[in-house]
Amino acid sequence: MLLEARNISKTFPGRQRATPVHAVKDVSLHARPGEFVAIVGESGSGKSTVARMLLDLIPVTSGTVELDGIRIASMNRRERWAYRRSVQAVLQDPAGSLNPRKRVQQALGEVIRFHGLASRPSDVRALAVEALHQVGLSPAEPLLDRFPHELSGGQRQRVLIARALVLNPSIIVADEAVSALDASVKAGVLRVMADLKDSLGVGYVFITHDLAIVEKVADRVYVMRAGEVVEEGTTEAVFANPAHEYTRTLLAATPVLPPLK
Ligand SMILES: Nc1ncnc2c1ncn2[C@@H]1O[C@H](COP(=O)(O)OP(=O)(O)OP(=O)(O)O)[C@@H](O)[C@H]1O
Ligand SMILES: [Mg+2]
Repeated sequence: MLLEARNISKTFPGRQRATPVHAVKDVSLHARPGEFVAIVGESGSGKSTVARMLLDLIPVTSGTVELDGIRIASMNRRERWAYRRSVQAVLQDPAGSLNPRKRVQQALGEVIRFHGLASRPSDVRALAVEALHQVGLSPAEPLLDRFPHELSGGQRQRVLIARALVLNPSIIVADEAVSALDASVKAGVLRVMADLKDSLGVGYVFITHDLAIVEKVADRVYVMRAGEVVEEGTTEAVFANPAHEYTRTLLAATPVLPPLK
């Protein structure tokens, strides 16, 4: 399976007579299951806009997003449905990804039922428990009846990952998924995500402004600046020998993280 963005651009029309914003310009990237791909870049460089186009949340202005060579824009309803299942989002929790009025059981259960994975309450519950186990929330049962505000930040973020995982996605597009967490909690959630890559073969398009994270877990990295990809390559190559002045500046400004685990 291959998720591919080919020369995608996004222009937001300016309000009234303001000039349009060229948020993303001619970006090409690809990701596969079992691969951890990172997109880094300063604030406003277009990372989230790329994510939203990959997730089929906003249309591209030009270019194409393709899954195994089939363009999203040309997919029929069934294919699009399948696309939205295999490419899942994990966003930052403070962005309100979890409904404060819904218990964990309900947050996971509605996704499971919506996509027809199970309908009997006991089956729905079993799938929810399994997903919670996969993200390291054990024992899971006591968590099912909790509301988001009754969970820690790290637990909430794991629930969000579990909610994506119940659909058995091939690729998870994670936008600043650990950015709001404390360093030690961040490392734990990151470890869970990296482990899922190995155990389930999930692939990631992981968006962050934190290069220390990229160095720890990413296989490949794209560096964005002002809407464009200015550098790409294996993490090793980019970190060892950044080709672009901007990447060198980014790297020089990055604090070193203690090792994971
Ligand atoms: N809906 C929108 N309408 C108009 N402009 C937008 C819209 N969404 C994003 N932009 C603009 O597009 C540019 C890229 O924004 P984007 O959110 O993709 O950046 P980012 O790299 O994710 O930044 P951050 O690291 O701060 O999250 C910015 O100039 C932003 O103001
Ligand atoms: Mg963003």
